[in-house]
Amino acid sequence: MADVDGLKVAKDYKVDVPFANQGDFHVKGANNLDWGMKKHLSNIFDPVSGNTVMFAFDHGYFMGSTAGLERLDVLLPQLIPYVDVLMGTRGAIRTCVPANCQKGIALRTTSGSSMLNDDLSHEVLAVDIEDVIRMNADCMAIQTFIGADGQLSSLDNLSKAVNAGMRYSVPVMGVVAVGKQMERTGRFFKLATRILAELGANIIKTYNCEDFEEVVAACPVPIVVAGGKKLPEKEALELAYEVISKGARGVDMGRNIFQSQKPAVMAQAVNMVVHKGATAKEAYEFFQETE
Ligand code: 5RP
Repeated sequence: MADVDGLKVAKDYKVDVPFANQGDFHVKGANNLDWGMKKHLSNIFDPVSGNTVMFAFDHGYFMGSTAGLERLDVLLPQLIPYVDVLMGTRGAIRTCVPANCQKGIALRTTSGSSMLNDDLSHEVLAVDIEDVIRMNADCMAIQTFIGADGQLSSLDNLSKAVNAGMRYSVPVMGVVAVGKQMERTGRFFKLATRILAELGANIIKTYNCEDFEEVVAACPVPIVVAGGKKLPEKEALELAYEVISKGARGVDMGRNIFQSQKPAVMAQAVNMVVHKGATAKEAYEFFQETE
């Protein structure tokens, strides 16, 4: 292992140079993968825009019933037309997502804590690969806590998921968690996103930060950005616009959609930014004008 004392600071990110191993496949870092992996990734990332709108409703895996998600069975059918991927637990998906829904599935496959714990960083890989395949999931979402107490188990979970995913052609999405003691700095997100990609994750979910273009440039797989806590709709659309402009290949939004006064309209507005090149202003005008 390299000596970390006196390390030179990484700075040559070449943010204007496109990814050099794209080949003819539209998903970054996937050119050398097999057909099954590429098919799943194409169910997530639109082959035309190259981007994705994921709707995250997996909060119940540690929060139980969450404001806005009390009735998944009622909410989901309203949103499904406007999103590309549904990110949830197997319990929520099996019970509340119609099986004839033709959207991608990002299956939350780790768990182990609840909001009653102070330290959420200790999780296990809770869904076996057979059930991932049975659910026809397009990726396994693995929560990872870099720099937290649970780092070892997180990276063990991620590696085991990558091993199983490689065996059966199911991609892995590494979800960067920010522990209570962690700072949301570009330095932290560069470290975390790159570690997860180096360990074999095919997609990274992370947060916006300063130097976000450098985070994107240094990560050899696509980044999707988490929405985070509920913001006014205008700000949430500005966030989506900013990260897409800086190279994110999508958003994975939860509360900023399902806690909106108009969740389905908000999902459409986000979709306009992610897929149709709309500015934040145009999308917000649509949000305001549409009932
Ligand atoms: C937790 C997750 C959640 O899916 C995600 O953060 C929830 O979405 P939002 O923050 O937009 O409500 O991955 O780590």
